Amino acid sequence: MSISLPSNSPLLKTSFTFGVATAAFQIEGANQLDGRIESIWDRFCATPGKVLNGDDGTIACDHYHKWQEDIDLIKSLGVDAYRLSIAWPRLMDEEGNANPKGIAFYRNLLERLKANEIKTFVTLYHWDLPQHLEEKGGWLNRETAYKFKEYTQLAAEELGQWVDVWTTFNEPWCTSILGYGEGIHAPGLKDDVKARQAGHHVLLAHGLAMPILKRICPNAQAGIVLNMSKAFPADSEASSKMASLYAEALDNHFFIEPLLKGQYPDIIKALSPELIPQIKEGDMAIIKQPIDYLGLNYYTCNHAKWHSELKRQTILKSATEVEYTHIGWEINPESLTQLLLELHQQYTLPPIYITENGAACDDKLIEGEVHDEQRVRYLNTHLNAIHNAITAGVDIQGYFAWSLMDNFEWAEGYSKRFGLVYVDYETQKRSLKASAKAYSNLLLSR
Ligand code: FCB
Repeated sequence: MSISLPSNSPLLKTSFTFGVATAAFQIEGANQLDGRIESIWDRFCATPGKVLNGDDGTIACDHYHKWQEDIDLIKSLGVDAYRLSIAWPRLMDEEGNANPKGIAFYRNLLERLKANEIKTFVTLYHWDLPQHLEEKGGWLNRETAYKFKEYTQLAAEELGQWVDVWTTFNEPWCTSILGYGEGIHAPGLKDDVKARQAGHHVLLAHGLAMPILKRICPNAQAGIVLNMSKAFPADSEASSKMASLYAEALDNHFFIEPLLKGQYPDIIKALSPELIPQIKEGDMAIIKQPIDYLGLNYYTCNHAKWHSELKRQTILKSATEVEYTHIGWEINPESLTQLLLELHQQYTLPPIYITENGAACDDKLIEGEVHDEQRVRYLNTHLNAIHNAITAGVDIQGYFAWSLMDNFEWAEGYSKRFGLVYVDYETQKRSLKASAKAYSNLLLSR
């Protein structure tokens, strides 16, 4: 089981960055320690029925205590970079003052990564909004964007020295649509119209934060990470073609178009004008800040069909036989190449990093080994899909496997394992899966 790329692949050049990714809430634990305040995910986990098996982030991978060992693990894989997130509720108290212990934690972590010559990709917001801000409306409240600006300033001043690449937001789609539209993620609201307003406020917060990062950290790169999926027509009906375009507009272009073109998509304006948020004068110019890079998280594709009564698209499983991962997501690497090429045609893209990609598998640790053959194949085919996109002209500068280790998979709790490294949650022992070894062998072969 190995991962291999054509020997002349641009991915194998030293200028291409390979890394692994995690996020604070998913690995840290210690959510009541050293001055960390409550986040919307703590509250959501404590609400019965929201997270599978009632799992929560109290301990997670205990990374708050095992961070040194985890950095050794990252180093041992031979990666160039580590993508992590900072927990806003650990860095700042309710009054907006710095939490010295939270700052010390991230400073030590980043310092040690730098000492190990690992590039640091730091996300400011990977979904753990302080609960006290949710009580004032969370992302439905425009004020939250200005609070995010204050938090960004604090993080940049205190930690900027050790950060190579900043990300303002991870996946605004999940924050707004899963959090405020579908109720699947914290804070668990279900209102499609309000969800789009939340999305607008997240984009606004990104735009407000960018100049701060550029001013305080002029040598770092700064940008944003979007999740996208390619949507195919579910069948040969003309309306299915429209449904697929509409699905991509709602999921992808609603977020990328304001960032790169300063406007929301015309197809949404035409088909569901109520989903276009309230925009104050100047907002779109703030959102359309130049970014140094765009991060893309890619996992799967969709199949869309038009539902004439609901007057909207519905998402179906593939009509042909395809392979799925343990979380039920279709494996379709060609769709990643196709999406990248389409984006390249539709926009003037900044350099791209694939900031997340990976598979949840039904991993079993047997005598210290995990034979995650599907994950190795997944990584292999997706890296080759990226190779194909680069060869066809898309500027892609790096790739991060999701995830370094098994962790708290949001509403799925600990039931879904995405790690290259297996975590035994009883003992917190980490064991390299076959995929970690295959990934590491590829990186060391460069
Ligand atoms: C992405 C999230 C990440 C992880 C993966 C599987 O949407 O950014 O935290 O949960 O999915």
